[in-house]
Amino acid sequence: MKVTTASVAAMAAGAIAAPSNTTPREATKAQAACASAVSLDAKSNVFSKYTLHANTFFKSEVAKAVEAITDSSLKTSASKVGDVGSFLWLDSIANIAKFDDAVADVPCENILGLVIYDLPGRDCAAKASNGELKYNELPRYKSEYIDPIVAKIKANPNTAFALLIEPDSLPNLVTNADLSTCQESKTAYEEGVAYAFKSLNLPNVVMYVDAGHGGWLGWDANLKPGAEELSKVYKAAGSPSQVRGYATNIAGWNSWDEEPGEFSDASDAKYNSCQNEKTYVTKFSAALSTAGFPNHAIVDTGRNAVTGLREEWGDWCNVNGAGFGVRPTATTGLELADAFIWGKPGGESDGTSDEGATRYDSYCGKPDAYKPSPEAGEWNQAYFEMLLKNAKPAF
Ligand code: BGC
Repeated sequence: MKVTTASVAAMAAGAIAAPSNTTPREATKAQAACASAVSLDAKSNVFSKYTLHANTFFKSEVAKAVEAITDSSLKTSASKVGDVGSFLWLDSIANIAKFDDAVADVPCENILGLVIYDLPGRDCAAKASNGELKYNELPRYKSEYIDPIVAKIKANPNTAFALLIEPDSLPNLVTNADLSTCQESKTAYEEGVAYAFKSLNLPNVVMYVDAGHGGWLGWDANLKPGAEELSKVYKAAGSPSQVRGYATNIAGWNSWDEEPGEFSDASDAKYNSCQNEKTYVTKFSAALSTAGFPNHAIVDTGRNAVTGLREEWGDWCNVNGAGFGVRPTATTGLELADAFIWGKPGGESDGTSDEGATRYDSYCGKPDAYKPSPEAGEWNQAYFEMLLKNAKPAF
């Protein structure tokens, strides 16, 4: 069956296609969302109350992938992946349009996860995810990207939203300040994230800003500057009430609690006391408290089932041999970690392996990167099937 957005929405709401003078979507939405305005307390863990929504966009990607699979047992397990909650990436001005379908079938007990990802000069330390806005286009980021998202969230007061703010941006300012592209983007990143914090500070929203991972801001020398960078931007935004904390391991590969840690044998391991994400969250949260930033985390476990695959900790592109990890849950075993979530939609590429492409990044050509791989964000069927076969727990 070809699952369309409308049919997913209808199934979720248990609606039937009866003749009516309201449109099907309005009818579905009225049944799906809460009966009254949602007010989220960012001093508490919203994931203990709300389930991360399995959004219609990922559902439809997975439905298409299922159709392409011939092996019947793989097909059966693949069909379950679309039911996993994950974040939807609004990665361009045009893709803000994805919001409308995604919001239409969110039941009151669910929270819709959205990734805010279109900063000017995006992905300043790599090429694969360079965005549509130039480093000097902050006014467009505000008026053509953030403001329309704000309007859409305001138009849906009865739905809960978890926003993941701008992956990689502030961590790049901390550790890649020597690159001219990151220097150029510094003002737009800081003012852009502050504008996002301030403008998206709505009662039905909680926000988590990206903080890299243990192998990035977890180095002993980076913990304090990293925490201070996040805090500086937060304070510049007026310390908005709906900022709950930060996100780690987004689109990443690190284990939550492997001991002593995947890269603990490396010659430089002595300079990093955060050899897994659990330790990183514990230590970075402490640094954030000192710096005056809200210190609860969400952690991406979407693709971290298999370790021992990367040649180096910093290898980030389409790691070969990876598997789907732990499903979203608020049971993390660490009070500072609100939830394990699926941030990167597994099956979407991290970057092209085509050496002739404008956005080709050499990390996507490394021996540990899966090839061939399409442009960042594009679907890679073979990679999806690999993640599925290597999933832990299995589907
Ligand atoms: C890409 C985005 C995409 C996201 C999720 C990023 O690497 O640049 O376009 O939406 O991954 O797949």
